[in-house]
Amino acid sequence: MTTARLIALDQILFVLVAAAWAATAGIALTGLRQPAAAGRRTRLIAAASCAAAIVVTALRVAVTAGLAGAGWWFVAEKVTLALPLVVVPALVSAAVSLPRLLRGTATGSTRIVAFPLLVAAYGAVAGIACAVVISYPVTAGGAAAVLALFAAGSAVTWRLLGPARSPRHGWQAAGTCVLALALALTIGGGWPSGHLHPEHDAGGPGVSVDLLRGPAPAAAGGPAGARERVRRFTLTAQPATVRLPSGGGAEAWSFNGQVPGPVLRVRQGDLVEVVLRNRLPVRGGAEQADSGQADSGQGVTIHWHGYDVPAAEDGVPGVTQNAVWPGQSHVYRFRAEDAGTYWYHSHQNSSVAVPRGLFGLLVVDPAAPAPESEDHVLALHAFGSRATLSVDGAAPSDLLTRLTLPPGARTRLRVVNTDTRPVVLGLSGVPYRIAAVDGGDVPGATELDGARLHLAAGGRYDLTFTMPSGPVLLTTGDRPALLVNGPATPPPAAGPIVDITRYGSPAALPDRFDRETTWVLDKTLAVSGGLPRLAQTVNGKAWPNIPTPVVRRGQTVRIRVVNRGTDTHPMHPHGHHVRILSRNGVPATGLAMDTFDVAPGEVWEVALVADNPGVWMSHCHDLAHAAQGMEFHLAYEGVTTPYDMTGGNHPA
Ligand code: C2O
Ligand code: CU
Repeated sequence: MTTARLIALDQILFVLVAAAWAATAGIALTGLRQPAAAGRRTRLIAAASCAAAIVVTALRVAVTAGLAGAGWWFVAEKVTLALPLVVVPALVSAAVSLPRLLRGTATGSTRIVAFPLLVAAYGAVAGIACAVVISYPVTAGGAAAVLALFAAGSAVTWRLLGPARSPRHGWQAAGTCVLALALALTIGGGWPSGHLHPEHDAGGPGVSVDLLRGPAPAAAGGPAGARERVRRFTLTAQPATVRLPSGGGAEAWSFNGQVPGPVLRVRQGDLVEVVLRNRLPVRGGAEQADSGQADSGQGVTIHWHGYDVPAAEDGVPGVTQNAVWPGQSHVYRFRAEDAGTYWYHSHQNSSVAVPRGLFGLLVVDPAAPAPESEDHVLALHAFGSRATLSVDGAAPSDLLTRLTLPPGARTRLRVVNTDTRPVVLGLSGVPYRIAAVDGGDVPGATELDGARLHLAAGGRYDLTFTMPSGPVLLTTGDRPALLVNGPATPPPAAGPIVDITRYGSPAALPDRFDRETTWVLDKTLAVSGGLPRLAQTVNGKAWPNIPTPVVRRGQTVRIRVVNRGTDTHPMHPHGHHVRILSRNGVPATGLAMDTFDVAPGEVWEVALVADNPGVWMSHCHDLAHAAQGMEFHLAYEGVTTPYDMTGGNHPA
């Protein structure tokens, strides 16, 4: 069974285990309070229920043992805490309660029979609590909180089941519970203070991220200026309306009135200069906008997704700049050193802004002439529930888009997933190759025929083929999205999904690492925005309390990413591509990716070479998950940032 299945099964089982023990205890208590003969039947039912509870408990142990095979990260809190709390009383129940219930005549032994059953029920409930409050690593606070409640419940129960009961006992019991709860909240609630990045706060020694800028254009007429091509663009954030061919529509935020924003197409070596202007509506009047005051409307930035620009050009509010408020502007500059397919999007309130349309495509053509004569860039995006496709920056369509290409033409389709969910792509009617992944060429890309592809949110695949005489069909999800040279439609690709980590020829990979770090992804109760909430967590913590990994320039870092939750997480470290070393222990070919999809139960190992100093965002590109806590920083020793989350800066 896959790890993901075991995780899901475990979640069903811990509810079942709790229900079984609670039912058993309830039935037994009823039976024990009835007169000997009348209660006999009830006590036998309780015995049967107890046997069932023991069986599901054993099943849970077996599932945990299976999960342990995938790694200690998946089971630590279960083995050390959740299981002992239910298994020990379950064993006592089997030895003490079950035989007495079976004899059927047990009377006068309420305490001895019912206590282990009730404690098993508490233990099982504590197991559910563990799943909600504790991730990996197991924290002393979380464990103490669970234990305190469990112990208090058990102690009170022991008293209440005793022979001499008086109203005083009730008060004592209530008092104990309140005390335990207070204790649990105090220990478990050693909530972090919300220090954002103490390791690299402004004011410390070092270089400010603000100084790590892209190059300014060489002075006109200078020797370097003669060779340098500067490409200037203006992107104006403004409202727009998206009309879908099916009849649907959406109020959107756009760059230059179009969604997606303009395709920025430059050549390798160009100096790119982009002026961002914010003309989104002002909240609360024009003077507020003039004062550049935070919260005077929707702020905007531009992040160059997958383009490893100098840190100051990365477009993250609160990290590399302040959000650009309505009426303000900002200039980005970087040299287009790497050819390939990229995209850009606002990073202010990105979980709202990107789905609403503040994104566009960036294509860097290689300096050497490309072999393909047909080159088209496709953006996948959902407006509400409508999946759409935009070809070459044209208005998005939720119906089948048609394209005509000359048969025999060497063709490149650059597919960009600008959505927050992964998509399964199918290309049929022609064998094809994945020529590039996340902008980088794939060495030794083999030909695929009928195979389907899984593209992470934020990720890009360049698909190349020679246009056949017949039609070619691209499907996204189950939807026929693009038909080239119809009207006949080839059957959709239905082959297996390519394991992208094993695609292409093996690259030379680092085998020595200066640092190792593990990111365990989960969904648990954590403090985010000052309050405990169900959050998407990394190592049990949520933004802004996830500690910042700090690297030194030149270091090679091995990052292990473990997903112990039930959601897929497209992890996206800014400023760097990582090389995929392995997935679930299976060696990878070493493709460079900037957004990699870690599915439930998966363990990825990637290598990051620290060659781009800065303070970088690192987050899940399911932007709702980022907003629910799954974002943190990656910082370089000696680099500080003067920006923070005050003044309305809000990356997720
Ligand atoms: Cu495309 Cu931090 O994001
Ligand atoms: Cu996620």
